[in-house]
Amino acid sequence: MSTQIDHLLDETRRFAPSPEFAANAVGTAELYEQAKTDRVGFWAEQARALHWDKPFTEVLDWSNPPFAKWFADGTLNVAYNCLDRHVEAGNGDRVALLWEGEPGDERRVTYAELTDEVKRLANVLEGLGVGEGDRVAIYMPMIPEAVAAMLAVARVGAIHSVVFGGFSADSLRARIDDAGAKLVITADGGYRKGKVSPLKPAVDLALADRNGSGVQETVEHVLVVKRGGNDVDWADGRDLWWHDVVPQASAEHTAKAFPAETPLFILYTSGTTGKPKGILHTSGGYLAQAAFTNRVIHDIHPETDVYWCTADIGWITGHSYVTYGPLANGATQVLFEGTPDSPHPGRWWELVEKYGVTVLYTAPTAIRSFMKIGRQVPGKYDLSSLRLLGSVGEPINPEAWVWYRNVIGGGSAPIVDTWWQTETGAIMVSALPGVTEAKPGSAQVPVPGVSIDVVDDDGVHVGNGNGGLLVITEPWPSMLRGIWGDPERFVETYWEKFQKQGFYFAGDGARLDEDGDVWLLGRVDDVMNVSGHRLSTAEIESALVANEAVAEAAVVGASDETTGQAVVAFVIIKQSYLESHSPDGLAQNLRLWVGEQIGPIARPRDVYIVGELPKTRSGKIMRRLLRDVAEGREVGDTTTLADTAVMSIISAQVK
Ligand code: WTA
Repeated sequence: MSTQIDHLLDETRRFAPSPEFAANAVGTAELYEQAKTDRVGFWAEQARALHWDKPFTEVLDWSNPPFAKWFADGTLNVAYNCLDRHVEAGNGDRVALLWEGEPGDERRVTYAELTDEVKRLANVLEGLGVGEGDRVAIYMPMIPEAVAAMLAVARVGAIHSVVFGGFSADSLRARIDDAGAKLVITADGGYRKGKVSPLKPAVDLALADRNGSGVQETVEHVLVVKRGGNDVDWADGRDLWWHDVVPQASAEHTAKAFPAETPLFILYTSGTTGKPKGILHTSGGYLAQAAFTNRVIHDIHPETDVYWCTADIGWITGHSYVTYGPLANGATQVLFEGTPDSPHPGRWWELVEKYGVTVLYTAPTAIRSFMKIGRQVPGKYDLSSLRLLGSVGEPINPEAWVWYRNVIGGGSAPIVDTWWQTETGAIMVSALPGVTEAKPGSAQVPVPGVSIDVVDDDGVHVGNGNGGLLVITEPWPSMLRGIWGDPERFVETYWEKFQKQGFYFAGDGARLDEDGDVWLLGRVDDVMNVSGHRLSTAEIESALVANEAVAEAAVVGASDETTGQAVVAFVIIKQSYLESHSPDGLAQNLRLWVGEQIGPIARPRDVYIVGELPKTRSGKIMRRLLRDVAEGREVGDTTTLADTAVMSIISAQVK
């Protein structure tokens, strides 16, 4: 089968930044020139924006690919870079975290206060025998202590593994076991949709004998923040309340410098099959690229901006663009415990108004769910403080992009569509908001210093106007350094396919348009083959979302006797549309609509109107499960779904 992915949809709208935005932007066009002249030297310069206790003399060691070393003979302390140095520079009174709990309680935490808390916690950790190279699992709600926990672990040279608070005891146990964690930091519970959702009880379960696996053996202590006030069991000797030990600890703690390649964290990401992969990131290169990209892509002016990245710290976006990037840059940011729609659908926009958020970074799934409810909800709030918007996690359909810009961004805020992965550690493909003329739906260009290409199965550049596979052709500072405990799987998963060329294979399909801009087409596993044409899920979904009736769409290929695969679409209809139209005949109209928009080859065989789509907990559509429904099979493993009931509802709707 050819890897050429046929391109069918055309997007001609263009949005240049305003002259004022461009004039004040942190990221300028010169960055591209500098990076082109001396790519490795360019990264060295970006890394020098950090504080190094011992400056590096080596920049990149790529003598043993795919195992890279960046800045290897330099030493630094990641937490010092995110905290102490801002206080020492006289910015201790600047607010680091504008925290809002789900019930509406709030806390403003300055850089001085956060530094203090992290120093105390670092002393507690060392008192518990946690030091260089030890693993610490963090299973917490979005509260300031979660950020402090990550930084304190980093400060003492230990390695954190943050496990999203929505994961079950079994998932937690698997991650604790794989990393051999010595300590778990958690809370009694956190607020979610108006209720306390328990966390400590899940930790207790995870550490107990699970289905004959025996009692967990590596964890020595569990440190518990009191947040939810829910009843918890207590294992004396093992369990410690945060409030009993942290405030009492000394706030004197000198940050020791560690070599740049010291492991910083493990973050588990689900592979296509089998057990989750523990993606390993190290210190200097990761922090350098996270901070640089946050500065130039989110255009951070630390003195004036109020930045808000809505991701949970359980995901890579929360690591790089809640904890490390913004704090390394001394930014002020909103941290929110709750969900977008609780207790009312305007909750996020209320926060934007309340805190005067200037830069908002979120996911297409959220934007599409707001589109579904309608513009009257954000319309009730003053969103005029917003000057820049960002998107991450999935392709953003052009129609959702334009809605985001007009309804949330007041028709003027630039949008940066940022492509990257847990594995890449930081943003790799994105516009620079003050430089690039934006195209809705395209992630556009590699970040200065990043080298990517779109190639065919043989690793040959496909040329403008063609689709293929997205690869990264040169090492980058925040690249993963491996899979925890499994170097072979690391090589096999990412490097074997283009071993000859030495390319990193990302697993995504992409297309280069006539200008050479990159359009992401979805995961290669999800690409369909209809009558010999390789069609991307992203394009057909975008065509559906461009219809006035549709808020969200997921497209899959279902086996078909005549065409090999047939396009099957699952769509969610906008509430505003249903208020004034009947759904009769809509499915048929949508079939024809796709045919008109992109051609008869892409016309879905079936269009199912559904109330929800199956999504992972980080908001990505799980097309594999929809393929099961479309092919009339028993639905496969649903344990990674955010809401496991969704599939039975969809199956019933489809019958
Ligand atoms: C997808 C999230 C299109 C892609 C940071 C990638 C995107 C996977 C975009 C990584 C984007 C992420 N446009 N697709 N702007 N951003 N993706 O590890 O398929 O949770 O491979 O990292 O999300 O997801 P992960």
